[in-house]
Amino acid sequence: MPSETPLRVGLIGTGIFASQRHFPAIASIPSTVQLAACANRSIDKAKKFASETGIPESHVYDSLASLLSDPNVDVIDALLPSQFSLQAVKDAISAGKPIAIEKPIAANLAQAKEIVAIARSTELPVAVLENFIFWNVIPEIKSLIEQIGDVVYFSHYCTSPFNFNNQYLETWWRQKPEHVGGFLSDGGVHQVALFTEILGQVDTLSALTTQVREQSGDVDTLTATLKMKSGVLGSFTYTSAVSNPRINKLSINGTKGTVIYDFSDKASATLMLYTDADKTGKVIPVPDNVQEGVPKEFENFAEAVQKNDKSLLKIPPEKAFHHFAVIVASVESSKNGGTSVKVAEP
Ligand SMILES: NC(=O)c1ccc[n+]([C@@H]2O[C@H](COP(=O)([O-])OP(=O)(O)OC[C@H]3O[C@@H](n4cnc5c(N)ncnc54)[C@H](OP(=O)(O)O)[C@@H]3O)[C@@H](O)[C@H]2O)c1
Repeated sequence: MPSETPLRVGLIGTGIFASQRHFPAIASIPSTVQLAACANRSIDKAKKFASETGIPESHVYDSLASLLSDPNVDVIDALLPSQFSLQAVKDAISAGKPIAIEKPIAANLAQAKEIVAIARSTELPVAVLENFIFWNVIPEIKSLIEQIGDVVYFSHYCTSPFNFNNQYLETWWRQKPEHVGGFLSDGGVHQVALFTEILGQVDTLSALTTQVREQSGDVDTLTATLKMKSGVLGSFTYTSAVSNPRINKLSINGTKGTVIYDFSDKASATLMLYTDADKTGKVIPVPDNVQEGVPKEFENFAEAVQKNDKSLLKIPPEKAFHHFAVIVASVESSKNGGTSVKVAEP
């Protein structure tokens, strides 16, 4: 495929995130990717998506097999409940088509390991979409922590109010989750992605979880003590089941200073640097479009496909495996009364 030609995307799973985020993201970079076809097991929903996005009815299907047979489709974009992502990866790779799946990588570690194994066995890019990794603030924080001596400890604290009108609560697969940890893996992997992208991978952890809201379908609240592979210690609290206000804060403490990224209000996030020389702290401007990770995910996926180089992927399955494995280890630790658990490797 010539590099100047936009990749033709076949999208499967025409649900909420497909309409609200993938379609606008793809439409915003037309010289890189274009929606060519779509599929959904309930075909009416696929037809509605097609009419809203300009996909001709001749390229609307009710199965992945049909989508994969469409010669106008170069790559697959799969937005399925996570327990179906493994089969989608198997089918796409068998059909010789690169695929991007949404986070979390899978519903359990066995499936996640299979996805990693398939991705390792092929030159076709298999991407896991994790938009937080593309936040512009990440390289900024990484450069700031070089000014705070040795990093000793961090705290990643994310609590947000339970929203009874949350559209995602209506989806059947979130109400009866097959994915380990329910909402903890659904939303929590984003947070793990953020702090591990800055601080490296987690080695061991001890965690407690609880379920606050019946509507969550499973545990929805987590607090964990972490030991990173680097030796840095940390704590991670995540829940979307409590009350106001939303608090999203990453504090990183070093021997000579502290960096605090407060993204409680996504529209006005703040980044602060405190050092021995400046104890009152300096406000660092947060780079623009900090939340706009989704188009960048597609740009990165497309680059890896166009250059036929899977090493260009920012989130290969191994990395997404780790994000998910941290949540799985937390759930396991809590079931054993908070004992220390080593985070699984793929
Ligand atoms: N990165 C992010 O911030 C973010 C945010 C939200 C969601 N996501 C991810 O995006 C994906 C979709 O989430 P969503 O919120 O859009 O959910 P959704 O609205 O429920 O969409 C899921 C789609 O998958 C289809 N589907 C369900 N069961 C299926 C099956 N057995 N076989 C084939 N298709 C099936 C559904 O079709 P029917 O309607 O016919 O059942 C639906 O169109 C998930 O992986 C989720 O984790 C990511």
